[in-house]
Amino acid sequence: MSAEGMRELLRALPVFPERLPEFDTSAAPAEPVVLFLWWLREAVETGVLGPHAMTLSTADAEGRPASRVLICKDVGDDGRWYFASSANSLKGRHLAVNPSAALTFYWPALGRQIRIRGSVAPAGETASAADFLARHPDSRAEALIGRQSEVLDDPADLDEASARAQAMIAADPGLVAPSWTLYAVTAGDVEFWQAGHDRRHIRLRYERGEDAWTRHRLWP
Ligand SMILES: Cc1cc2nc3c(=O)[nH]c(=O)nc-3n(C[C@H](O)[C@H](O)[C@H](O)COP(=O)(O)O)c2cc1C
Repeated sequence: MSAEGMRELLRALPVFPERLPEFDTSAAPAEPVVLFLWWLREAVETGVLGPHAMTLSTADAEGRPASRVLICKDVGDDGRWYFASSANSLKGRHLAVNPSAALTFYWPALGRQIRIRGSVAPAGETASAADFLARHPDSRAEALIGRQSEVLDDPADLDEASARAQAMIAADPGLVAPSWTLYAVTAGDVEFWQAGHDRRHIRLRYERGEDAWTRHRLWP
């Protein structure tokens, strides 16, 4: 395909379905977490695949960013979003030196995006261990190897390490990978974005204040 053909193909691709939900910002709740949970429930009911998959963006000490998709493990009433990963991974190393992150949820079937920014802290050893032990044994074995994001020179090394980790878990089902960490993102601002076919997309941003959240419409 020519470069022009590719550009035309990209321009012609549909982004949103014909019918899009309404977003009445005057009826938005005082707490962003409440609106998040409404929208999440609608995403589940609409059949969005992996509605709890989100893009986590972090940056290193020099401000160089990296993004990847993770599973959202929990959402607290207190405005905390949780994910779990290895502290040894690239994201874990980023968060050790720069404990800030952005989370992005995107649900194309509803034309909705939610953007969250905040500070990140480990949720503690007990919570991390509970998350680890709730994982499928294969996922536990993978995490127990503890080498996420390192260079894999020979795939046979992975097979060998997996077999060893699986044997360790079989011998001690309570075993917890020391690097496995449940992280909590305490949101400082949260933006809800609803696509509209007239291109007048609706954006509502919540900002955490001393005692309460403030919210504002944003220009699209
Ligand atoms: C749908 C989906 C869900 C994922 N969930 C997780 C997760 O919960 N935890 C995790 O560590 N990696 C998860 N991954 C893998 C990450 O995207 C990433 O490859 C890995 O964490 C290494 O990232 P890093 O090198 O930036 O640290 C998931 C990937 C996809 C596509």
